[in-house]
Amino acid sequence: MLKDKKILLGITGGIAAYKAVDLASKLTKMGAEVKTIMTAHACEFVSPITFKSITHQSVLTKMFDVNADIEHISLADWADLIIIAPATANIIGKTASGIADNLFSTTIMATTAPVLFVPTMNIHMYENPIVQENIVKLSNLGYFFMEPEYGILACGYKGIGRYPENEEIVFHIVTYLKYKKDLLGKNILITAGASREKIDPMRFITNYSTGRMGLALARAAYIRGAKIKFIHSSLGVKAPEYLNSIKAISAKEIYNSVLKDFPESDITFMTAAVADYTPIKSSKQKIKKSDNLNLVLKRTKDVLKELGEKKTSKQILVGFAAESENIKENALQKIEKKNLNFICANNLNVSGKDDTEILVLGEGKEIKLIGNKFSVAHQIIDIVLKSSIKLNI
Ligand code: CTP
Repeated sequence: MLKDKKILLGITGGIAAYKAVDLASKLTKMGAEVKTIMTAHACEFVSPITFKSITHQSVLTKMFDVNADIEHISLADWADLIIIAPATANIIGKTASGIADNLFSTTIMATTAPVLFVPTMNIHMYENPIVQENIVKLSNLGYFFMEPEYGILACGYKGIGRYPENEEIVFHIVTYLKYKKDLLGKNILITAGASREKIDPMRFITNYSTGRMGLALARAAYIRGAKIKFIHSSLGVKAPEYLNSIKAISAKEIYNSVLKDFPESDITFMTAAVADYTPIKSSKQKIKKSDNLNLVLKRTKDVLKELGEKKTSKQILVGFAAESENIKENALQKIEKKNLNFICANNLNVSGKDDTEILVLGEGKEIKLIGNKFSVAHQIIDIVLKSSIKLNI
């Protein structure tokens, strides 16, 4: 996803500087050309040689080098995106105040490329109104920020301020290379994962869904600025903290949660693999084995169908259909039956861990998307945003 992209990685002086080594490695492996600038304080934590060895590109630390070009201008022009990870309160404050007193702060000032800050610091520093005001000011000016994570900090405190997972930083970079916050003000409801229908205290009925596609949609929409309600049942992967997920395990819990939040939603993606049947009665005690076990199942409520009946002319409803044959025909029938705006039909024969093949149908369109689930998620959002429905915002 980053082939031939030019990324300028800025490292400022925090203990998390060592984590940026792995970020540099991930970006390089994804095909990006990564040049690094390190402040003098960053060099106290990690040697510039480490970044040089990993990226095989220049690592700059000084403003004035007689042999170099006018680096702050050439780097500012060269970069498709600048990422500052970790970003100290100092570099955030300098940028917000228009201070350009070293190679890195000057380069940030001189660029027209997107700039992403990854603030990482002590909780009290992060929550200091001066830092928060600077973040708001810069965000309003179009600079991008990631929320630090919650946990044990290097200083021994517990709270917000931790360096996020590099994988999450990569998702943000991929998004900001192409999109701005084009979903600001939109409420998006996304369900994901495999529901579980209880048989007894030990056993349940479920399916193979991992929730990866729903998670990719939630991530992509969140990074593009949407307000997300992410309702999930069993997931094969961890959801990021910033999604503030709501857990709903059984078909009944999913029904209750979704119906409650649906009226506020502008766009709803029902990616969850909700059970069509549930045991008539679950046993309070563990069922002892015998030669045969007869389980009587009853139909669950079809959440999506009910949403289709309730939706207003200002809401967009997107269903998902996992199909193994007659993909287009089956999906078109579901659009009609459940009153959907779009349906994303995925071919069970080609779906895998990270990649997918999805046919998006609706409003007379028929678009086939193949590839990584995160980039497919962005493309689904793009298609939905071109809908003829005018959202209620
Ligand atoms: N769905 C739902 N409630 C259910 C079952 C499914 O909301 N009880 C939703 C899924 O989240 C998905 C869509 O319906 O968005 C399609 O589900 P699928 O099981 O593929 O289709 P069905 O309509 O149940 O038809 P069939 O199982 O016969 O293919």
